[in-house]
This record gives sequence, C-alpha cells and structure tokens, in this order.
Amino acid sequence: MDELKKQAAEKAVEQVKSGMVLGLGTGSTTAYAVAKIGQLWQAGILTNIVGIPTSEQTAMQAKTYNLPLTTLNEQPIIDLAIDGADEVDPQLNLIKGLGGALLREKIVEIAARRFIVVVDDRKMSAKLGTHSPVPVEVTQFAWQAHLRWLKTLGCEPKLRTHQAAPFVTDNGNYIIDCFFPYGIADPAGLTLALDRRPGIVEHGLFLGMAHEVIVAEPNGIRVIK
Ligand code: A5P
Repeated sequence: MDELKKQAAEKAVEQVKSGMVLGLGTGSTTAYAVAKIGQLWQAGILTNIVGIPTSEQTAMQAKTYNLPLTTLNEQPIIDLAIDGADEVDPQLNLIKGLGGALLREKIVEIAARRFIVVVDDRKMSAKLGTHSPVPVEVTQFAWQAHLRWLKTLGCEPKLRTHQAAPFVTDNGNYIIDCFFPYGIADPAGLTLALDRRPGIVEHGLFLGMAHEVIVAEPNGIRVIK
C-alpha cells in the first residue's frame, strides 16, 4: 500500500514547476510528495519554490529538506496544492481530516489555483461516509453540546482521543468523528448544516474543491479530472 501511495504522490509532483507557490498537505501519502519535492529542491532541479504547510507535522518534514516555507499571509495565492484524502466519491468530493489537519488543509486548498488529491484505490467510494467518518473540528468550549447536536444529524459522533486524552488539533480545538452507518445521503445539505452551526470550526467534507484525483491501483495509475 505504501508503494501505491508513493506512486500517486510522485505522479502529482510531476506537475510541480520551478517558481511555484505550493500547498503542502498532511498525511502518509502527501509525505511522499513532500519528500520528492524536497529531493528535487535539494538537487537543484526545482528552484525558486516555496511551500505553505497545512500542519506542524508537514512543516517539520519540509524543514528536513530545507524547503523554503511561507504562509498565506505572505502568499495569498497558491499555484498548486497536493494532499491526500480519506474518501473520494466519483464527483471528486472528499472526506478529509483523519490526520487532524482539516482546518488548515481547507484554508490552504481553497486558496489554490489547482488542487490535486493523491490516493490509493482503497479510498475510492461510491457514497461518501461509507469508508470514513466525517471529522468535525469543534471548539473545546461546550464540546459536549456540539456532540449532542451532531447526533441530531443522524450520525454516531465520537470525541477523538489520543493517549487517553482528547486529541487537540494544531489550532487548539477538539475533533468529533461522525460515523454515518449508511453513508451520507446528502453531502451538500450536511455541509450547509455544519457550516452554519456556531462552535463548529470546520469539517472534513471538501465538496467541489479537487481539480484532479490521482489514484494508484495495483495495475497502474488513474487520473480523474
Ligand atoms: C489529514 O488531516 C487528512 O486530511 C489526510 O489528508 C488524510 O487523512 C489522508 O491521509 P493518508 O494519506 O495518511 O491516508
């Protein structure tokens, strides 16, 4: 599986050109893309590039290659963002955030002229929510009230934990993973409901954002646009 992740990631890196501002996603698949970009940078093949990382973890990895990093404050437009996903439907709608970086990922990827998703074929799904829960980033304040409200949407919400304590995002918030036992009937309606609710900082439904999905399968690579 790691070989497939690597193949998808490295295929995406073929679209990286010198001079680009890059959105650097988070997760085990994207890590292969960051590694490849880092190697091409160190070899002098890619020049004058700058990365905007979507997590502290990705920033740390990029620094090991001395990749120049910046922020959206300095560079408001990104030429190309590359990131993984937890689930992808045939319309290229995504669930993201099992890695906990969904808020910064969405902020960065919405600012990208081009957003490429890299996955292995296990992430492809006919109906969103059947493979992955929807991660929802909420304020620590009143988190139990958020959890109770999320339950009214027809899911089984669970506070994400790490080492027996609540998992805390890079932004100081909690994550509630929402499991939909039969998948999500209306992803657009769910997005609207989540977007309107105070205390919900962001959620892992990325609808209509991906321009291209690169899927690595055991017998080759498929590019869906
Ligand atoms: C991080 O918050 C997520 O959105 C990741 O992009 C997603 O979890 C994919 O990660 P993997 O490549 O490790 O499966």
